[in-house]
Amino acid sequence: MKGPLIIVNFKAYENVCGAQGLALAATCEKVGKETGITIVACPQMVDLALTVTHVTSPVWAQGLNSVSPGGRTGHTTIEALVGAGAKGTLINHSENREMLFDIDAIVKSCKKNNIASCVCTNNIDVSCSAAMLGPDFVAIEPPELIGGDISVTTADPKIVSATVKRVKEINKNVEVLCGAGVKNAQDVKAALELGAKGVLLASGVVKAKDPKTVLRDLASAM
Ligand code: G3P
Repeated sequence: MKGPLIIVNFKAYENVCGAQGLALAATCEKVGKETGITIVACPQMVDLALTVTHVTSPVWAQGLNSVSPGGRTGHTTIEALVGAGAKGTLINHSENREMLFDIDAIVKSCKKNNIASCVCTNNIDVSCSAAMLGPDFVAIEPPELIGGDISVTTADPKIVSATVKRVKEINKNVEVLCGAGVKNAQDVKAALELGAKGVLLASGVVKAKDPKTVLRDLASAM
């Protein structure tokens, strides 16, 4: 899976749990089929397996633990993700940070299990460190812009273009995504022009009155 793609992070928003989350995942699938753009749904862990049975489009986890199977109460293993039918996972999201050691271990276990890996980063240097680990994607997301109304492509386009340049210098196989404040086709168009292969977003879709229309608008720029 090498883009262009749209990743919709459901986070822990209460209006996309359970049946409402399934409805949003079905909307991601519908718009993805209509437009030919890969739209990934990232539900909460408790909804992941059910979502996988509900849609044929990719379902990713919002994260997992760097632990082997066994006495691990409350942890999520890569084996559990594979068993649930996840096709990928976010790693190190700014709202769920990991230690570098664990990011490395998780990326390696994703490769071993054919699970797409997307390491979330907050600046260019962290993006370079992440690229050294060889994930499928690095997603640059300045934390201060997350949840806001100003897209990273407007507030700080340089962080996107510089991340693309430096990541590709380190590992040409790693694709760069960007996120934080992304809301519309203009933001997506700008992201692609800056060299990103797609976007990662949450509130612009999850909080929308009409997520289908928003997703169609986002996909129209790809
Ligand atoms: O995972 C993407 C997320 O952190 C961006 O949030 O609400 O700014 O689209 P939002």
